[in-house]
Amino acid sequence: MIEVRGFQVWPGSLDAAAQAAMVQEVREVVRAAPLVAPVTPGGREMSVRMTSAGRLGWITDRSGYRYATSHPSGVQWPPVPPSVLAVWRAVTGLARDPDCCLVNWYGEGARMGLHQDKDEGDFIWPVLSISLGDDALFRMGGVARRDSTQSLWLRSGDVVLMGGPARLAWHGVDRVRHGSSRLLPQGGRINLTCRVVAA
Ligand code: SIN
Ligand code: FE2
Repeated sequence: MIEVRGFQVWPGSLDAAAQAAMVQEVREVVRAAPLVAPVTPGGREMSVRMTSAGRLGWITDRSGYRYATSHPSGVQWPPVPPSVLAVWRAVTGLARDPDCCLVNWYGEGARMGLHQDKDEGDFIWPVLSISLGDDALFRMGGVARRDSTQSLWLRSGDVVLMGGPARLAWHGVDRVRHGSSRLLPQGGRINLTCRVVAA
């Protein structure tokens, strides 16, 4: 494990077989709850495509950022994949399972601007991130927007825990090296983030 500004990073935490098995489970999630092109409250379409698994899913549209009990189409969110739950339990050691596993899909040119994850209601719980597919340049800052940042390439199978001082730290994805991994035949990157959402 390496620690960068309070972000705990486990490079290569999942081997190739575990990554492939997790991708199959994510494909089932996407079949049940298709990826959507989310729109920010300001009306801009995000470059990532998104869906969720779990009791709640994170969504954004003209009405704001929030957790919702169903997919925008009205269908129920599918359950969090067992392989993802296993990583959450092993890495966090928590008895509490996540309420949401947000699935972010990065196609060619997709990125994610610097932001804080702060719609969960209780920041005592960490956010766990799992990367699959293409390499991504992950930028990490501090709890203040003006804090300096440091970036690190996340590769397929890497796991990041954002807890403690890093729980409310700014972070984002500057760019993805499209086609850098062969995990997904057409290229692209999947990032899964597990969150506990207070009632
Ligand atoms: C996120 O912050 O929601 C995504 C992080 C990542 O894609 O690595
Ligand atoms: Fe985030």
